[in-house]
Amino acid sequence: MKKCFAPLEGITGFIFRNTYHEYYGGIDEYYTPFISVNQTRKLKKRELEDLLPENNHVPALVPQILTNQAEDALAYIRMINELGYDKINLNMGCPSGTVVAKGKGSGMLRDPKALDNFLESLFYGLSTMFPSPIKLTAKTRIGIRDISESEEILSVLAKYPFHEIILHPRLQKDFYKVPVHMEVVKSWQKVLKVPLIYNGDLNTPGDVHNLCHTYPDLEGIMLGRGLLWHPSMLSGNVDSCTNTEEIADCPEEDLRKLKEFHDTLFNRLLEVMQEPNNVIHRMKELWFYLGCNYPDCEKQSKNIKKAKTIDDYRIAARSLFCR
Ligand SMILES: Cc1cc2nc3c(=O)[nH]c(=O)nc-3n(C[C@H](O)[C@H](O)[C@H](O)COP(=O)(O)O)c2cc1C
Repeated sequence: MKKCFAPLEGITGFIFRNTYHEYYGGIDEYYTPFISVNQTRKLKKRELEDLLPENNHVPALVPQILTNQAEDALAYIRMINELGYDKINLNMGCPSGTVVAKGKGSGMLRDPKALDNFLESLFYGLSTMFPSPIKLTAKTRIGIRDISESEEILSVLAKYPFHEIILHPRLQKDFYKVPVHMEVVKSWQKVLKVPLIYNGDLNTPGDVHNLCHTYPDLEGIMLGRGLLWHPSMLSGNVDSCTNTEEIADCPEEDLRKLKEFHDTLFNRLLEVMQEPNNVIHRMKELWFYLGCNYPDCEKQSKNIKKAKTIDDYRIAARSLFCR
């Protein structure tokens, strides 16, 4: 079963992806955080850097776009295709209020007719404007406010030749905390003729094992926060292992390896990002997750959160690693 690293805006840029792959691996496909499509039809410098093949040293990378305008989408797909990518993911899941208010991300799920029109134009453009086929995939939620919306959304998606669909079975209003609605997964598998990838709350090897055994026909799984809490989570043979007890919980992280991963990531970010504040911000985002591996270090974790300069950050991180 294919294993994908979910896009996590503000965390999983190319430096993170490369470093994760070098230290932990076990991922077949990485996704870029969303590229916000706009009418300028130009990739921002940061977006281009994140996409350039020479910056990416992972087995496969799928760029993700966020838009509800077919023409703009096609213009971006062309630019991304020219960089060498033939597989592109459409974000239909972002729950953020500002994105949803513009009818993008999971906001696209509010009006299934408009979604249908958008997809019709998009797939028409893909079939007529590109010399070689583009594999379009979607990463979607199941509705906005009520699970009953899922059926109509599913029937719209089922009309189109997506290469794959990544299903995050939550509603927009659920954000990331409410339990996933596993009850829809079987019906999505039944109705969709295209391969399905499951995403959501796979936080232990046991979660992966159980999912893979309950839904053996899935094309793949996508993990996000689980891999930040426990970067080595996929290092065993979690999906094919038959000894459930052995894999139920996360193994304890090798803290020496985690420190090396952290230090390499931090130094690479410092080399590449121009603004030290951005590096500190990124590292703090990551600590929100990694911190669980240091349960007795409240004081040191607080110092990381408070760090305002690179030196503050270095001192705080060192005191945690060397305690
Ligand atoms: C900080 C953060 C940033 C995210 N950024 C993106 C994004 O750019 N594109 C996207 O499709 N999903 C994004 N997501 C959603 C994740 O890709 C994933 O669907 C979600 O975290 C559920 O999977 P998980 O339980 O394995 O983490 C983001 C989630 C978080 C917490």
